[in-house]
Amino acid sequence: MDSLEQLIDSAKQDFLAAPDAVALENAKAKYLGKTGLITAQMKQLGKMPPEDRRTRGAVINAAKGQIEAALNARRQDIANQKLQEKLNAEAIDVTLPGRGRGKGGIHPVMRTWERIERIFGSIGFDVADGPEIENDWTNFTALNSPENHPARSMQDTFYIDGNDANGKPLLLRTHTSPMQVRYARSHDLPVKVIAPGRTYRVDSDATHSPMFHQVEGLWIDTDISFADLKGVYLNFIQAFFETDNVQIRFRPSYFPFTEPSAEIDIAFGSGPLKGRWLEVSGCGQVHPKVLANMGIDAEKYIGFAFGSGLERLTMLRYGINDLRLFYEGDLRFLKQFN
Ligand code: PHE
Repeated sequence: MDSLEQLIDSAKQDFLAAPDAVALENAKAKYLGKTGLITAQMKQLGKMPPEDRRTRGAVINAAKGQIEAALNARRQDIANQKLQEKLNAEAIDVTLPGRGRGKGGIHPVMRTWERIERIFGSIGFDVADGPEIENDWTNFTALNSPENHPARSMQDTFYIDGNDANGKPLLLRTHTSPMQVRYARSHDLPVKVIAPGRTYRVDSDATHSPMFHQVEGLWIDTDISFADLKGVYLNFIQAFFETDNVQIRFRPSYFPFTEPSAEIDIAFGSGPLKGRWLEVSGCGQVHPKVLANMGIDAEKYIGFAFGSGLERLTMLRYGINDLRLFYEGDLRFLKQFN
């Protein structure tokens, strides 16, 4: 029938004219919707004599199939067109030069930290890490600095809000020495460990910063002596500064947690610092009371400890004269190390 042919043609035209998916779905309703033209044709079937219904029904169905095919084809076209527009809009010009990305570098103090771990690791020292927020017992009391003892005033402490389980104030560790106690209490003997990390004191000038870095060393065994401490530290200094032309001396000093105690000084045999004695570390034999607080029999075991400042070692290695340069984040300074 003519009218069906026309219907197919006009549907195809309407679909082609639909500029987008919404318009296309509206055009679809006009033919295939509940009140659409094809649907209306179907409804006519009921009024026809039964013998005509079959053939007419088949014809209408074929027309419907053609309209649906045209609809789907147009749907696909619109989707393709949309994708193409999107791809065009997002086109990447691969011939443009790259934007580039600044390269980060390792901070000189962290370089020292890593260097020290490598050097001590190579002679069998374990590396331990501990909390920067400490309790009073581990930072002071266990290290033989009892409450109200004047030795505590050697270190100007940052106390923070909050108490530990014993009701004592929490604090930012003033040195890495509490790691001696933490490590020895939780590891089997003999102990051979370094503990590098951040430390805090109320102090700020060209040679002091409120946050700074130390490395603690602890060696506990049955048959070691100051000579072993000296040997290990000399080996470390030679490896760290990459020279054998360096001397080391122990100068008597005082720390509550070591007895006897000493400062370690070094002197280079050449270079800009030649011949000057430079203090680099505190050290000493672990005090028997500290060994007791570690749960160690001071009659059987002997311990040696040292604590060195990483900033100090870094300044000597690179010839830096102001500690504050480490914390200013000035790229002109930092770039020199990378
Ligand atoms: N903890 C001491 C300080 O901060 C250094 C030290 C460590 C001294 C170990 C002796 C033994 O100055």
